Amino acid sequence: MRQTYSQSPGPIGVFDSGYGGLTILDGIRQLLPQYDYIYLGDNARAPYGSRSFDVVYQFTRQAVLKLFDMGCQLVILGCNTASAKALRTIQQNDLPRIDARRRVLGVIRPTAEIIGELTNSRHIGLLATEGTVKSNSYTMEIQKLWPDVSVTGVACPLWVPIIENNEADGPGADYFVRKRIDHILQQDPEIDTLILGCTHYPILMPKILKYVPRGIRIVPQGEYVAESLKSYLARHEEMDCLCTKGGTVRYCTTENETKFKESARIFLHDDIEVEHLDLE
Ligand code: DGL
Repeated sequence: MRQTYSQSPGPIGVFDSGYGGLTILDGIRQLLPQYDYIYLGDNARAPYGSRSFDVVYQFTRQAVLKLFDMGCQLVILGCNTASAKALRTIQQNDLPRIDARRRVLGVIRPTAEIIGELTNSRHIGLLATEGTVKSNSYTMEIQKLWPDVSVTGVACPLWVPIIENNEADGPGADYFVRKRIDHILQQDPEIDTLILGCTHYPILMPKILKYVPRGIRIVPQGEYVAESLKSYLARHEEMDCLCTKGGTVRYCTTENETKFKESARIFLHDDIEVEHLDLE
């Protein structure tokens, strides 16, 4: 049993295993710049993509509790792997015991909700981590909402390590990006829409655009997660009142602050202050 948390308003927490959630935070801040945010990247333990269900759940739970300790009433898991493997247990088992008023939301449902509107051929491709693909979460969510849409998933286990190691622009990335794209299009040549079902992948966008044939739509998630959050806050005034609105962002990492700052600069094109924190 945990401590009782304060009900004071606080920032919105955005969590990812590493840098990927920055693509979600970016989308959210473009649409909802007025709120305060805390970004937490568990870079020291990234990638999560090939870790077991239990490990991803334990790591994600620690991060959510840390963000609650830091005053967040609402936390977005800006990570598909955590959304696939930890979200439901946190929502159903942990939150009622920790604080039934706090909320944790993920990124899979908002993507599934719009996907049926984006495809004409009704054949969707999912590029994601091994954990997300094997969890079958996308297929289940999409088929609940769009039963006529077929989903082909391909895991790209090396894409996140390439990004976390600042090699997204390097020539090595070309080989691995092309290989997975060719593979998914061979699996289902009728795919007309490709979900980037890992929040890290938009960082590889220049390479992805190079190898995806024209006419195939690439769907990063930031914009859709942001739309979904906006609509959630409009429908839940009680939660909106618990989110402070000062337009600030605090960046936190479990890795070294300088390393995070230098890498994040590549993605954010901005100088930021970074704090180190421990989750264990
Ligand atoms: N960015 C994460 C996702 O959306 C996790 C990547 C990883 O840590 O493997 O799945």
